[in-house]
Amino acid sequence: DETTAKRKDAHLDLCATGDVEPQQNSTLLECVKLVHCAMPELNAADVDLSTDFLGKRLQCPLLVTGMTGGTERAGRVNKDLATLAERYGLAFGVGSQRAMSEAPERAASFQVRDVAPTVALLGNIGLYQAARLGVDGVRRLMDAIGADGMALHLNAGQELTQPEGDRDFRGGYGVVEGLVKAFGARLLVKETGCGIGPDVARRLKELGVRNIDVSGLGGTSWVRVEQLRAKGLLAELGAEFSSWGIPTAAAAASVRHAVGPEVRLVASGGIRTGLDVAKVLALGADVAGMALPLFKAQQEGGLAGAEKALQLILAGLRQAMLLTGSRGCAELRRRPVIKTGELKDWLAAL
Ligand code: FNR
Repeated sequence: DETTAKRKDAHLDLCATGDVEPQQNSTLLECVKLVHCAMPELNAADVDLSTDFLGKRLQCPLLVTGMTGGTERAGRVNKDLATLAERYGLAFGVGSQRAMSEAPERAASFQVRDVAPTVALLGNIGLYQAARLGVDGVRRLMDAIGADGMALHLNAGQELTQPEGDRDFRGGYGVVEGLVKAFGARLLVKETGCGIGPDVARRLKELGVRNIDVSGLGGTSWVRVEQLRAKGLLAELGAEFSSWGIPTAAAAASVRHAVGPEVRLVASGGIRTGLDVAKVLALGADVAGMALPLFKAQQEGGLAGAEKALQLILAGLRQAMLLTGSRGCAELRRRPVIKTGELKDWLAAL
């Protein structure tokens, strides 16, 4: 309906211009240090960043995580960022396809295969919308855009700050179980900025989930976005909880430890530089995810602006690979990682 589209446009405006990354939020990646190698014995041209994801080969371990769709403006964002994903061999996700399930004429703004024929592409739907749509409904959304997989997003914190949001969170694992039976390794379960911790990750793995995006605290806060739209009690609650969540560094390291090597692990939430990407890979992630910085760069400078932002991130990642003496992602994973301060406290408890 109309209200979903209106809400989405308000969200985009707030993310483009508003303060949606509260100052006090942290990924705790500042507590992570990689060790310099004075003698890398590598040619920059030989650094190989490729990795497998969703049955495809990425040239670079980066996922543009699901953001948008449903309006013309959203369609432009999807086309531009998917174009870049194709050009640089990244994975790409569209935003929640709820708008599309409610009004099929909005489907065009989710279509990116014309500009991104080979990218590893993810559809996207919320857990409780998926419950309403059923497995077949979710499959139709995935097939309608030619996706390689489906991202199922969890957002209890955001829902509680929305007047129209869900309040009954029972039965979630049952929904995941149904979807994982149908989609297997094509299903990815993600948070939206509050983080997935080791207990939830372990249960998801037991159900058969093979792709998890922790989407931790430290970047875009959806509680904050809703707080900025809310009035009265919900605005106050939003302010109180806008720093709620598991920091991305703590989520990535603890979830990798909990689920072992069979799960493809994406770390997102506040990843802003190539060095951030290197740090989460060293902590155990297979792929780093990014939303807000690429969205903002696209809003400010279109395709060229987003490309410039991406090139800086890729250069930073390559430099971190060289300076840790890592030829590829697997080597980087084996490098020592220093974890200090508050991150150590989190990891002692998780
Ligand atoms: C998002 N995010 C998101 N996630 C999701 O699963 N479905 C969605 O529809 C959206 N929509 C959306 C819009 C915009 C404009 C942004 C910035 C983000 C969440 C996103 O995928 C990611 O999990 C978080 O934003 C954390 O990453 P960043 O933004 O800190 O890099």
